[in-house]
Amino acid sequence: MSEGNPLVGVDIGATSIKVCQLKESRKGLTLFRVGYCALQPQTIVDRHVMNSQAVVEGLKQVFTDAKIKQRDVALSVSGQSVISRKITVPIMTTAELDEQIQWEAENHIPFDIKDVNVDYEILRRRPEAGQMDILLVAAKRDEINDYVQIAKQAKLRPLVVDIDAFTIQNLFEHNRGLPPDQTFAIINVGATQASINVVSRGASAFTRDVANAGNFITEQLVKQIGVPFEQAEDMKVQASQPQGASALPARVFQVLDTVCDTVAGEIQRSLDFFLATSGEDRISRIFLTGGTANLPQLGAAVERRSRVGVEVMQPVERLPIEKEVDQQILVPRVSQLSVALGLSMRKSKEKRA
Ligand SMILES: Nc1ncnc2c1ncn2[C@@H]1O[C@H](COP(=O)(O)OP(=O)(O)OP(=O)(O)O)[C@@H](O)[C@H]1O
Ligand SMILES: [Mg+2]
Repeated sequence: MSEGNPLVGVDIGATSIKVCQLKESRKGLTLFRVGYCALQPQTIVDRHVMNSQAVVEGLKQVFTDAKIKQRDVALSVSGQSVISRKITVPIMTTAELDEQIQWEAENHIPFDIKDVNVDYEILRRRPEAGQMDILLVAAKRDEINDYVQIAKQAKLRPLVVDIDAFTIQNLFEHNRGLPPDQTFAIINVGATQASINVVSRGASAFTRDVANAGNFITEQLVKQIGVPFEQAEDMKVQASQPQGASALPARVFQVLDTVCDTVAGEIQRSLDFFLATSGEDRISRIFLTGGTANLPQLGAAVERRSRVGVEVMQPVERLPIEKEVDQQILVPRVSQLSVALGLSMRKSKEKRA
């Protein structure tokens, strides 16, 4: 990690805001503070902020509750407004690529190029073929600006805007490193989307979002058990905990199994597409994170469909926890904190990868 001030990681998700702050000492990085603030339904719809005042208030609240004084933050975006593509170009210098990249984006990104910010990462140089592989990333400027403006209204200074998938990959790298000879998937299953990132030979090779996640699972419980959303949400969380599950009707588990299988089927279609188009012959492991990763039925369904070992990612396995950290938030919500944790590893002076 390069020099600069550590930033507070701020993840504005569909159901809640999550924040994390790290501390850097001679011992290395430690987790210093975490915060969580629920957002009302309809505050953010399809990742568009419908009620910016509610998000501004939520941000202020979560910084106060978590006792975070630092105002320099890293944000992230995801969903339909972000696209990444692995492309191959003739070998060239970084300066040449900087000039060329806009043109490449026009060819490969299905957005109007005037509306997007374009960035890239060099994945591999292959001098023997006279080519290099790069990861091209485009994010809609309007979407980024909305989040940046909201953060500013909450008196924060957004210095970095990253992408959910890469942020989680950074966190994974901190914890376990990126094996140079393996292809594996990290899937962030939140409330409104499951974001897949296939990492191959140490770099992201494929990203795609599946539109059904935690909310879809709850809605199916509403329909099939006939309970209101809030109650269905409670049932779902209870079903994920071994000690609470015995009080639930068997029908709840039947519905969860079926719905998780549907979500796993959609995930598998994306993984099949990756395998069919990338030339890679297998995915060696799948890591789940995000709030819905707590549901054991989902991991089991993904494992059944993919025939690949599934593991719930442990976001803080390599981060010592300071006594200031609110355990009431950290313990039940650790899977929800991955994006904010990854963002909190960004530094103010760091160049975008
Ligand atoms: N213990 C649990 N068992 C099952 N589901 C859970 C549990 N805890 C949280 N969830 C679900 O996880 C989702 C929230 O997770 P997360 O905070 O990762 O999503 P988000 O970031 O708000 O949404 P998105 O990423 O779609 O914008 C909700 O659907 C919630 O019901
Ligand atoms: Mg999320």
